[in-house]
Formats: sequence, C-alpha cells, structure tokens
Amino acid sequence: MTEELAKIAQAMVAPGKGILAADESSGTIKKRFDSIGVTSTEDSRRDYREMLFRADDAMKNYVSGVILYDETIRQKAKDGTTLVDVMKAAGSIPGIKVDTGAKALAGRNAGIETVTEGLDGLRERLAEYHQLGARFAKWRAVITITDSLPSWNCVKANAHALARYAALCQEAGIVPIVEPEVLMDGAHAGHTIERCYDVTEWTQRVVFQELYDAGVALEGMVLKPNMVIAGQKCAKQASPEQVAELTVKCLKSTVPSAVPGIAFLSGGQSDEQATQNLSLINEIGDLPWKVTFSYGRALQAAALKAWGGKAENVAAGQGAFTHRAKMNSLAAQGQWKQNLEKAA
Ligand code: 13P
Repeated sequence: MTEELAKIAQAMVAPGKGILAADESSGTIKKRFDSIGVTSTEDSRRDYREMLFRADDAMKNYVSGVILYDETIRQKAKDGTTLVDVMKAAGSIPGIKVDTGAKALAGRNAGIETVTEGLDGLRERLAEYHQLGARFAKWRAVITITDSLPSWNCVKANAHALARYAALCQEAGIVPIVEPEVLMDGAHAGHTIERCYDVTEWTQRVVFQELYDAGVALEGMVLKPNMVIAGQKCAKQASPEQVAELTVKCLKSTVPSAVPGIAFLSGGQSDEQATQNLSLINEIGDLPWKVTFSYGRALQAAALKAWGGKAENVAAGQGAFTHRAKMNSLAAQGQWKQNLEKAA
C-alpha cells in the first residue's frame, strides 16, 4: 500500500507540475462569483470548473492533479461526461477536500482561533471518494497569529486532527495533503515575517510529531504549507528573496526528507508574487523534496475575471488559466522570469 501511495504522491509533485486547488466550498465560490457579478448556481459552478478542466494544455503539461469539492466530484460536464473523467482524460489526478471547515475553537480564545472538523464518518466518506476516482485528499488547518496567539491548545488540536485524517486517508489508499495554514490575511494579519517564521516552525514541528504518533507514512503524503511571509497588514513587508530564504530555512528544519513533495498554498499573495516567491525558493536549490504549487486564488483569479460568466469568454478564461499554470510550472523549476509575464 505504501508503495502505491508513494507513486501517487510522486506523480502529484512531478517535475514542472503542481496542483490546482478548485475545492472552494459553496460559500467561498459564491464570494468569488460575486466579485465578477455571476450568480452561483449548480450550472454556473459546473460551467466555470469545466472550463478549467478542459484547458488541455494546462491540464496535460502543468497540472498534476485537481482538488475538488464534494459537489464537483459528482458532477457531469455539459456533454454528460463526468468531470472526473474530463480531468483524467487530460492526465490529471482527481483529489477531494474532505474537511468540513474551520470551526470556532471553544475555550479561552473563542472568536479568534479555529479547529478544523470532519473526522466523524471520514472512513466511510473516503471509501466512497475512492470509488468516485479520488486518489488524494486535502484537509486544511488554520492557525491565526496575534500578539499572544496561537495557543498551544489550537496548534495541538489542529495537528492532531490533521494526523488522524492523514492516517485514515492512507488506510483508504488515498494520499493526504496535509495543510497547516498559518494565515497571512484576514483580521489579524499585522505580524512580521520573523513572527510568521516562529509560528510556522512550531506548527510544522507539532504536525510532524502527530503524524509520527499516528503512524503516517511520510513517503505517501504531500505537505501544503504557507510560505514564511509577513502578514498583509504588517507595515514592514519582506523582500521576495527574504521570503524564499526564510521559507527554505524553516522547511529544512521541520520537514523530513522522506516527504516527497511540498506544494504551497497562495494564501492571499498576488498571482505574480506567488509565482516569483516559488521560483526564488527553487532557485536556492539543493532541496530534499520537490517544491511546487497547490494554488487556488493565484491560479484562478485571472481566469475567473477573463471568463466573467460568459460562454463566449471560455477561450479567454482558459488562456488566462494556462498562462498562470505555465508560469507556476516554470517557478516549480526555478526558471520563472518577470519578462515572461508580458509574453502572455
Ligand atoms: P489559496 O492558494 O487560494 O490559498 O488556496 C489554496 C487552498 O487550497 C487553501 O486550502
């Protein structure tokens, strides 16, 4: 089983390839559609995602797998083909978000800290998702930084849930994406890059301890971390070179080399910032794992805008998506250059 999982994990982080996070919950996709004035319906969500999954060049050459939402893994394209078959035909691996969201953590810091839920009935849900074609899964834990937080209670609870999720995934023949996200945006994002470093290092250390305790095979997982970066509201923003340097330093001190790959979330970075930072990280080189992207917003924002909910804009939307996927593919190889953006 571990060998099979390792093969999938390696394919997810194959050279020059990364993951498209298209697993926005119904609430989140509504927010995205609101921003372009499109009503979120089952059909409009299908049309939008079908557009992405039928962007053949991107899906074949730059995207290894797609994280889906429960609705999407069951949905059919306009011509009746399942969306899972559409992406499989393009050579992409279907994945599935299985957490049920970050919920308020009861206790002393209620109202700020969260714990991600979704463990109840997860074994049964994973068996069904495997049948529907999913070969990897995602669970996102959220860690908020303030002057006095995160609390040990929050870090521990989230890391423990991530490990229980990861062990259940591997039992089901599904590769877990383990995502402990230290937030850079939101209401409490005034922290410096140094503070982000400390909290990210701490969080990842606890996560790997919990993964060990739960017997998770590191060869059969992918880590999806935040980059080490200043909070969006911090007056002192770090340079891309500093982000790359501290991110690599942090990962080297916390992530065992048995982990085949690290696929970052974009977390609120601009499209180009997420690409540049990834490229600089890979330029540092000599890393024991593949380092790539698992972007949601930074891969989709341009495509969403170009599409605007209109059938006649499908080619433009696919073009915008393919461009970002290509730029991030180059970044995953440390080969992105700013002037390539203009060639679009
Ligand atoms: P962003 O890249 O928009 O942060 O989303 C990635 C993701 O899947 C978060 O769970």
